[in-house]
Amino acid sequence: MTIVRAHDFLSWRNESRRLLAADVSPADVHWAGANETLFGGEQATEAKIGSVASVPKEFLRLAQTAALHRDDDRWNVLYRVLYRLTHSEPSLLKVGIDDDVRRLELMNQAVSRDMHKMTAFVRFRRMENSDPECMVAWYSPDHHVVKAIAPWFSRRFGGVRWSILTPDECAHWDLEKLTFTPGVPRSAAPASDDMEHLWKDYYASIFNPARVKVKAMKAEMPVRHWATLPEAEIIPNLLAKANVRVIEMAKNQKSSAAEFVPRTNDLQQLRAAASVCRGCELYARATHVVFGEGRPDAKVVMVGEQPGDEEDLKGHPFVGPAGRLLDKAMLEAGLDREQVYVTNAVKHFKWIERGKRRIHAKPSGIEISSCRPWLEAELASIQPELVVCLGATAAQSLMGRDFRVTTERGIFFPHRWAKQLVATIHPSAILRMPDRRDEEYALFVHDLKLIAAKVRELEAASRRLS
Ligand code: URA
Ligand code: SF4
Repeated sequence: MTIVRAHDFLSWRNESRRLLAADVSPADVHWAGANETLFGGEQATEAKIGSVASVPKEFLRLAQTAALHRDDDRWNVLYRVLYRLTHSEPSLLKVGIDDDVRRLELMNQAVSRDMHKMTAFVRFRRMENSDPECMVAWYSPDHHVVKAIAPWFSRRFGGVRWSILTPDECAHWDLEKLTFTPGVPRSAAPASDDMEHLWKDYYASIFNPARVKVKAMKAEMPVRHWATLPEAEIIPNLLAKANVRVIEMAKNQKSSAAEFVPRTNDLQQLRAAASVCRGCELYARATHVVFGEGRPDAKVVMVGEQPGDEEDLKGHPFVGPAGRLLDKAMLEAGLDREQVYVTNAVKHFKWIERGKRRIHAKPSGIEISSCRPWLEAELASIQPELVVCLGATAAQSLMGRDFRVTTERGIFFPHRWAKQLVATIHPSAILRMPDRRDEEYALFVHDLKLIAAKVRELEAASRRLS
């Protein structure tokens, strides 16, 4: 029996070369575990293990990661796989059910997970009285991953000096290069400071009880780690209140665009953010979000219901049949579409399939209210003189559920988002009434003429004021 020692991938590789050259069977080798944990950072890119044999690059990749595993038996597993690969089983890695291959893969996964966890759970604290400023974190990884993951931290936190202390070894960043020193006991880490309070406040503010899954949280954040996480202290408290808060949140709002709406008056930024809105389920079946368009200083905002088939495909409001009818009617009424900002109460197309066609489906009350934050953000940004609601959906979104377009169309109301608000029929509704199309169209143009007159009146009033 040959006894060899390895303390990192490179030393294992060197020993393995020697053993392979002498054709030593894995059964005749014992790899002694070394407590030494400083492993080399050199990347093995060549696929040759010495001059003896070539192995798949895939093996080198797996082996370098698995070498960081804490299990002392890893060197034996690695050598067994290497030996088999270079002897009679060149395709061994494809045999997923093989015990050695399976262990290699499990070790590889465990190490990858541990590195990922470290990027998520390391918390830096500012060292008291440090000058220049220095941040310190204490962490206890499951495997020997410090050297492998330190470059990630230097990229992520490259602008500040920091040290990550672990029982195995410590990594230090001085704004230019990484250095490593032996491990330290936990007591060497700073106990508490401002950073910790800041972090706790931050964590409490982002804590969303609806997302809490205690079991998953404990699995992801083993109790051992909780000791080094300042937020762990406040988690039990937050959890105790979580049920209550979940119920409150569910009662208030089943779905809403609110959390997707950035705090800005910039229409471009709002439009960009709307494209990733998940405030209700309509985004899932739509092609494009259709945000409002027009001058950011428009005096008039027209609000439709939701984009139609053509709008969904093109990503612009009122560019299909209803839009063409609207253009025609506005022209007749003396309203310049260039001066008007045009948008919808709901920003994604809701449809049902009828043969090959996508047929408009009416948005539900929940969808309308979920999407209202976008409409409100547009109105808050533009601050128009007049809002024109085209149809019941827009009118009910801004005036409440009992608003009736049939009886209240053409009436001007004061409104919180504009000086005045008025509703009229939706141009799509006219298209859906072939028998009465001409009369309805005439009534629509009549309303738009009232609106044009109101716009002139409001403009005159604001000119007198200024
Ligand atoms: N109908 C609407 O309400 N909005 C559009 O953008 C198109 C049709
Ligand atoms: Fe968001 Fe409105 Fe689209 Fe729903 S319809 S996902 S709330 S933008």
